[in-house]
Amino acid sequence: MQTLTITRPDDWHLHLRDGDAMKSVLPDTASRFARAIVMPNLKPPVTTVALAAAYRQRILSALPAGASFQPLMTLYLTDNTPAAEIDAAQSSGFVHGVKLYPAGATTNSDAGVTGLAKCDATLARMEKLGLPLLVHGEATDPAVDVFDREAVFIDTVMLPLLKKFPGLRVVFEHITTKDAADFVIGATSNVAATITAHHLLLNRNAMFQGGMRPHHYCLPVLKRETHRQALVKAATSGNPKFFLGTDSAPHGKRTKEAACGCAGCYTAHAGIELYAEAFDASSALDKLEGFASFHGPDFYRLARNTDRITLIRKAWQVPTEQAFLADDVLVPLRNGENIAWSLQE
Ligand code: DOR
Ligand code: ZN
Repeated sequence: MQTLTITRPDDWHLHLRDGDAMKSVLPDTASRFARAIVMPNLKPPVTTVALAAAYRQRILSALPAGASFQPLMTLYLTDNTPAAEIDAAQSSGFVHGVKLYPAGATTNSDAGVTGLAKCDATLARMEKLGLPLLVHGEATDPAVDVFDREAVFIDTVMLPLLKKFPGLRVVFEHITTKDAADFVIGATSNVAATITAHHLLLNRNAMFQGGMRPHHYCLPVLKRETHRQALVKAATSGNPKFFLGTDSAPHGKRTKEAACGCAGCYTAHAGIELYAEAFDASSALDKLEGFASFHGPDFYRLARNTDRITLIRKAWQVPTEQAFLADDVLVPLRNGENIAWSLQE
C-alpha cells in the first residue's frame, strides 16, 4: 500500500500549553486532527468551567486563519472540586472530561488529588451524568519503582475506584504496560485507554541509546520491549476500547536538556504519521482508521468526522528543531531523522 485515505483523526490527549508556546505548536495539531482533548495542566491549572471557557477562547483565537480545529476542554480535578462544577461542565457543551492527576505524579500535578476518597461526591456526580474521568495512572509513592508505577496504580487506585463507581466512564490515559492493556481489555465497556505513538514505537532503551536521551523522557516513562509489544497488539487489535492520544507535550530544549529535565515528548509535528509507521510495522494499516478516527468519538459520544486525510508512504526528514518561544526552541521526536509516512497536503 502506497497511500492510505482515512476519516480525519482526532487526538484524544494533547498538551497545548498557553500564550506564545501554544501559538507555535497549535498549527501542527490543527493541520492533522479535527479535534483534540486538551489537557488542563496549565499554571495555574484549569479547575473550573469558567477557566476552561477562557482557555478555549484563547485556543480558538490562536488558530491559523481558516482552520476548523475544535478544542475539547477538560477540567483539572482537585481535592476540592465541587460536585456542582460537574453539573456546569456537563451542561457547558465544551467540557468533555475531568482529568485526575495524582498529586506529584507529573508536570504541574502539584494541585492534583492527594486522596481520591476526598472526591467521592464529585466522582458520584460524574458517574451519574456520564462525564468521563481521564486518568494519569501512576502511583505516587516514591518507594514504588518508576517502572512499576502504572501496575501498582491499577491495584491500589483503579480497581478500588471502579469497585466504588462501577458505572464511571474512565479513560486510562497513555497506557504503557501489558498490565494496563490487559486491565482495560478485561474491564467493563465504560473503561477505555489512549495510547501514544512514542510508546508504540520506542522501548526504554531509547532513553539510553549511546548516552542520556532527554527527548525520549516522558511520563509514564517508556517501558521494556514486552510492554511495547503488548501496546502494539492492543492498538492494532480493532478493540474499540483503544484509541489515539498523542500526549504531545512540548517543553523548550533548554528545559529538556537540563540537570533535572522536564518530562514530555513533542510529537504533534507528525501526530498521525508516527502512528501510520507503527501500524505499518505490524502490517495493520487497515486498523489505523478505527483507532485514530472512530473509537475515540464513539467513546466520547461525539459524531465521527466526515472529511478525510491521505497518508503517503514517502519518507521525510524531521527538522532538528522548530520555533517555540522567543528564547527557546522545541526538539521534535525523530529530530534529524526520517519518518516513513507523509501527510498529503
Ligand atoms: O511526559 C509527560 N508530560 N507526561 C505527563 O503526564 C505530562 C506531560 C506534560 O505536561 O509535559
Ligand atoms: Zn499528558
